Amino acid sequence: MRFQYVILMLVGMSAFMVVRNQAILGGWIPIKNINDPHVTSIANYAVTEYDKRSGSKLKLEKVISGETKIVDGIIFCLNISATTISASNKYNVVVLEKLSQRNLTSFVPLHA
Ligand SMILES: *[C@@H]1O[C@H](CO)[C@@H](O)[C@H](O)[C@H]1NC(C)=O
Ligand SMILES: *[C@@H]1O[C@H](CO)[C@@H](O)[C@H](O)[C@H]1NC(C)=O
Repeated sequence: MRFQYVILMLVGMSAFMVVRNQAILGGWIPIKNINDPHVTSIANYAVTEYDKRSGSKLKLEKVISGETKIVDGIIFCLNISATTISASNKYNVVVLEKLSQRNLTSFVPLHA
């Protein structure tokens, strides 16, 4: 009797974990630690890649906020500020990271 109870509990727990994983897979999760070196690294990649593609000379100032979404990899959607020689502007950038390969999929100015 007691053994059956334990098995039931295990089944219940794994069902719970599946539901939880689906929730994580489905949606955007706010990034809690915006100063995480990995997040900074993604933002720097976005700016560097944008500069390379457009011939701009933007430099990352800081990451303002961000969200991640687990797909076939991780999508980072970040609001950042970046500086040119004369000004500081805000941008929304989207980077897909998959097996440590990164791909900038969007880099657009944010209109406050
Ligand atoms: C970026 O900023 C815009 C405008 O303030 C906001 O609506 C959006 O939720 C922000 N996105 C992220 C990923 O923080
Ligand atoms: C990067 O994304 C673009 C479109 O978003 C896609 O065409 C391209 O194949 C991707 N490159 C890599 C290396 O995943």
